[in-house]
Amino acid sequence: MGVTARTPLIAGNWKMNLDHLQAVATVQKLHWTLRDAKFEDGSVEVGIFPPFTDLRSVQTLIDADKIPFALGAQDVSVHDSGAYTGEISGAFLAKLQCRYVIIGHSERREYHAETDEVVAAKTKAALKHGLVPVICVGETAADLEEHGAAAVPVGQLRTALSGLDAKADVVVAYEPVWAIGSGQAATPQQAQDVCAALRQVIAEELGDEAAARTRILYGGSVKSGNIASFMREPDVDGALVGGASLVVDEFAAIVRFQNHVGV
Ligand code: 13P
Repeated sequence: MGVTARTPLIAGNWKMNLDHLQAVATVQKLHWTLRDAKFEDGSVEVGIFPPFTDLRSVQTLIDADKIPFALGAQDVSVHDSGAYTGEISGAFLAKLQCRYVIIGHSERREYHAETDEVVAAKTKAALKHGLVPVICVGETAADLEEHGAAAVPVGQLRTALSGLDAKADVVVAYEPVWAIGSGQAATPQQAQDVCAALRQVIAEELGDEAAARTRILYGGSVKSGNIASFMREPDVDGALVGGASLVVDEFAAIVRFQNHVGV
């Protein structure tokens, strides 16, 4: 797809970890760690995705201390408002200055029965409220065996993007389910192959301009020791980090992937 200026996005998906007090301490420490390492040059975007109950506290901290992190939520309702007990509207997230929202993480697909159609509806809901959806796709170990790596994520992304405006601002995260929390990351080549296939889907659904500017992240057992090798791949534009995002020094080292020569 050629060389483009896609700003890398290193995103920390905290999942259901850290209460709002721990969240404030963690974000503060991450900020100081990166600042001490002279990291604030905007060459990498840092995204933090805490649980819903932490968002207001983290937003207040980011605002007060002018911390250069983007805030995101881990899910959003397909509805705007109304009698949907327990749901969170994209309008509420936008009011909290969330820039991003994770959509269709494999844990939501698996434990909350989110279908490709639900993921597509949530993608539309996020865009409607001015949020950038981080659309998660990925194959299970069984899918990999049966269909190869790309078929399932390609199908999932096609449904999520179908009918969107060509100007839609989205991020795609390729997370092989077998690599999540397993310590068994995909190889950089595997990640590159699927990310290239996903970029082709973006081109087919939204056009070449969208394909060239849209960031595609890899996720699944990303660590400071393997991030540089993923980031060297032409179609990998960042990472969606789970477990390692909870450890400040480790996450800071991942954010600073340009500074280490690790493979
Ligand atoms: P791990 O980094 O813990 O494998 O989790 C990846 C993930 O699911 C991020 O969304």
